[in-house]
Amino acid sequence: MHTKMRYHLLSLTALVAIVQSASLGKVSKHATLVKARTVTETQYDFIIAGGGIAGLTVADRLTEDPDVKVLVIESGPFDQDEYSLLTPGAFFTTFPANYMWLPLPSTPQTALQNKVFNVPAGKVVGGGSVINAMVFTRPSKEQLKDWDTLGAKGWDWNSLLPYYKKSESFTPPDPAYAQAANFSFNPSVHGQDGPVEASYPNFAYPGAGVWFEAAVASGIQAGGDANDGDGMGVVTTPFVTSGTTRTRSHARLNHYTPVQSRTNYHILDSHTVSRILFDNNKKAIGVEYLPTAGGSTLTVNATKEVLVAAGALHSPQILQLSGVGPKSLLQGLNIPVVVDLPGVGANLQDQPSIIIPYNVTNNIHPNIGTLSTDPAYDAAQRALFDATREGPYQLTRGLSNNLALPSLSKTTPTLAKCQSILDAARAANHNTYLPPGTHPSVARGYKLQRELTIKQLSGDKTAVSMIHWDTANSVRMYFLRPFSRGSVTISSTNPLAWPVIDFQTFVDPIDQDLVVASFLKNRHIMSQPSMAALNPLEAAPFDNSITDEQTLKAILSGITEPSSAHQCCTAAMMPMDMGGVVDNDMKVYGVKGVRVIDTSFWPMVLTSAPTATTYAVGEKIADVIKKEYCLGGFKSGKGKGPGKC
Ligand SMILES: Cc1cc2nc3c(=O)[nH]c(=O)nc-3n(C[C@H](O)[C@H](O)[C@H](O)COP(=O)(O)OP(=O)(O)OC[C@H]3O[C@@H](n4cnc5c(N)ncnc54)[C@H](O)[C@@H]3O)c2cc1C
Ligand SMILES: *[C@@H]1O[C@H](CO)[C@@H](O)[C@H](O)[C@H]1NC(C)=O
Ligand SMILES: *[C@@H]1O[C@H](CO)[C@@H](O)[C@H](O)[C@H]1NC(C)=O
Ligand SMILES: *[C@@H]1O[C@H](CO)[C@@H](O)[C@H](O)[C@H]1NC(C)=O
Repeated sequence: MHTKMRYHLLSLTALVAIVQSASLGKVSKHATLVKARTVTETQYDFIIAGGGIAGLTVADRLTEDPDVKVLVIESGPFDQDEYSLLTPGAFFTTFPANYMWLPLPSTPQTALQNKVFNVPAGKVVGGGSVINAMVFTRPSKEQLKDWDTLGAKGWDWNSLLPYYKKSESFTPPDPAYAQAANFSFNPSVHGQDGPVEASYPNFAYPGAGVWFEAAVASGIQAGGDANDGDGMGVVTTPFVTSGTTRTRSHARLNHYTPVQSRTNYHILDSHTVSRILFDNNKKAIGVEYLPTAGGSTLTVNATKEVLVAAGALHSPQILQLSGVGPKSLLQGLNIPVVVDLPGVGANLQDQPSIIIPYNVTNNIHPNIGTLSTDPAYDAAQRALFDATREGPYQLTRGLSNNLALPSLSKTTPTLAKCQSILDAARAANHNTYLPPGTHPSVARGYKLQRELTIKQLSGDKTAVSMIHWDTANSVRMYFLRPFSRGSVTISSTNPLAWPVIDFQTFVDPIDQDLVVASFLKNRHIMSQPSMAALNPLEAAPFDNSITDEQTLKAILSGITEPSSAHQCCTAAMMPMDMGGVVDNDMKVYGVKGVRVIDTSFWPMVLTSAPTATTYAVGEKIADVIKKEYCLGGFKSGKGKGPGKC
C-alpha cells in the first residue's frame, strides 16, 4: 500500500490540494472554527492538543457546560465530506493523502530485513476516525481486567460498559438476516442514543459464508456478539456506519458538527501544538503552537488543564518537547527537564498486519475483488447504494464481514506445540529483546506485561491473531499479542519534524513462533472442505508446501506491515516505578494540569480494533474531569459526586 513510487505521487497530490485551498480562500462553514487571531484573544479553560477521536469526544462533553471554554488545536485540516471518505464501498478509492501524516517513516525494522515503512495515521479534524476502515469491535473482558492488574484501576469492562453504551447508537440488524448470516447480537451491551453510529451491513458476499463454515470446521467456535466482551471465535463485525444512510460516522460528524454552534467550543485546524508551557510550580498554563505548514509560534493560555490527545505517536512527542520524558533524551537535545519520566514514548505497541496473497482459482463471483476487476459491476453497485443504501457498498472496500479470533490452543495444531511456545516464553529473560537503553522502571512494567501475556495465551479468553479472508485474493492476519515493544522518541526540537518511530516488530523470537503458528492456522482454515472447493492457492512468496522456517522467512521479508494504525501505549497508565506516565485519572506524573487522554494511556494493546474503546474512554474521562471541576451535570446540587461538588 505504501510503496515509494506511490508515496511521491501522493506528496504531489497533497501539495496541489494545499495550493488550491489556499487560493480559494473559502470561508468555512464551521461557525466556531476559529482564526489564530481569535485564539490569542480568548481565555480558555481547557486546551486539547489533537482533534482525533479522544480529543473531540472530550471537547464535546466538556462544552456541554456553557461556562466552559475549550480550544482544540489540530494539525490537520477539516475534511470536505468527500464521497470516498463517507462511503464504505469507496474506501481508499481516493487515497486520503491530505488527511494523513505523510511522510511518517518508521526506523529500519531489524527483524523485517531492515526495511523502512510508512506509518499510517490520520491528520484531519476527527483523526483516524475519518480515514479508518470502520471495523467496530471491543476487547475481551480479560484484556481490560489485566489493564487493572497493571495499574489502570477503574478502566475494566464493568467500568467501561456504561460508556461504551453512552458513546454508541447501535442499529440492530434484521434478526432473520442475522440468523441466516450466522451472527447474534446482544442488545443489552449496546447503546441506542449515543453519538457514534454503528450497524451491521445487510449484505455478505457468498464467500463469507464459505469461509465461516471453514473457520468453524477448523475448530474455532462460532462467536456471539463481537462487542459483548467475549472477544473470541468467528464473529461478524459491525462497522462505524449509520444504520440508515450506511455512511461513515466519524468524530468530526458525531462530536463536533451537531454542536458546532456552541460558542464555547473552538477548533483551530491546520495548527500544531509544539509544547506545553509550565509555570515555576510545574503547573501547565497553556501551549505553544504554530501553523502546520510552518511559521511563527504563538501561545495560548489554559486556566484549568492541557489535555494531550495527539495519538500514540505524537502525544509522546509533545510531552518530550515540553520537557516531560526520559532525562537523558531531553538533556541530549538541551531541553530543560520539567520531569524525568522514562516511560514517555516507551512501550509502543500495535497490531502488525500480515497479508497473505492468494490465487483462489475456483472462486465464487461476485466477491470483494469484483469491484475492481469488473467496472460495470462496480458502477451498478455504486448506483444501487446511492439510490437504496443496499448491496456491497455497505462494506468497507477490501474487507469482508467476518473474522476469526482463535486462542493459542486453537491456533497450534497440537497442545504440545502450544506448550512449547509458552515454555520458551517463560524461559526467556524479559530484558533480552527490549530496545537498547530501556530504563529499569520500564523493564519492570514490561516484566508484568509479559507475565500477563503468557497467562492470557495459556487460557481461552485471549485471541492470538485476527484472521480475515477478504473473499478475494488476500487473507489479512492481525497479530494481536506481541511480546516485542517499540518506542517513539524525538530526535530534534523542531516540532514539525517527525518523531522517531521504532516498532521493533517481531524482534522477540516468541512473536516469530506465534506468527508462524497463526499462518499455519490460516492454512488449516483454507484447507477445510468448504474452502478447499474454491481451490485457494497461496501465491508468491508462498506455496502450500514450504517448511516452517521458509514460511517465517517469507513472512519477515515481504508481507508484514509493522502497523495497522492501531498504535498505543506510549504514555501508559501504570505506576511510575513500572514505567507508567499517567495515574488513574490520566494525570501525568510530576506535573499539574496535564492529562494524556488518547490511546497512549493504554498499558497493553487490546485484541480488538481500537475505535470503540477510544470513544468509550473519552466519554469516561470527560465525566472524571467534569466531576473534578464540578461542571455540567456535576454542578452543585445536580448528580454530584461524593464530597467534592
Ligand atoms: C488507515 C487506518 C485504518 C484504521 N482502521 C481501523 C478500523 O477499521 N477500526 C478501528 O477501530 N480502528 C482503526 N484505525 C485506528 C483508529 O482510527 C485509531 O486507533 C484512533 O483514531 C485513535 O484515536 P486517538 O484519539 O488516540 O488518535 P487520533 O484519532 O489519531 O487523533 C490524533 C489527532 O491528533 C493530531 N495531532 C498529532 N500531533 C499533533 C500536534 N502536535 N498538535 C495538534 N494536533 C496533533 C493528529 O493529526 C490527529 O488528528 C485505523 C487507522 C488508520 C489510520
Ligand atoms: C452460515 O453457516 C452455514 C452453515 O455453516 C453456511 O452454509 C452459510 O454459508 C453461512 N453463511 C454466512 C453468511 O456466514
Ligand atoms: C497568559 O499567561 C501568562 C503567564 O501567566 C500571562 O503573562 C499572559 O498575560 C496571559 N495571556 C493572556 C492573553 O491572558
Ligand atoms: C492462478 O492459478 C491459475 C491456475 O493454476 C493460473 O492459470 C493463473 O495464472 C494464476 N494466476 C495468478 C495471478 O497467479
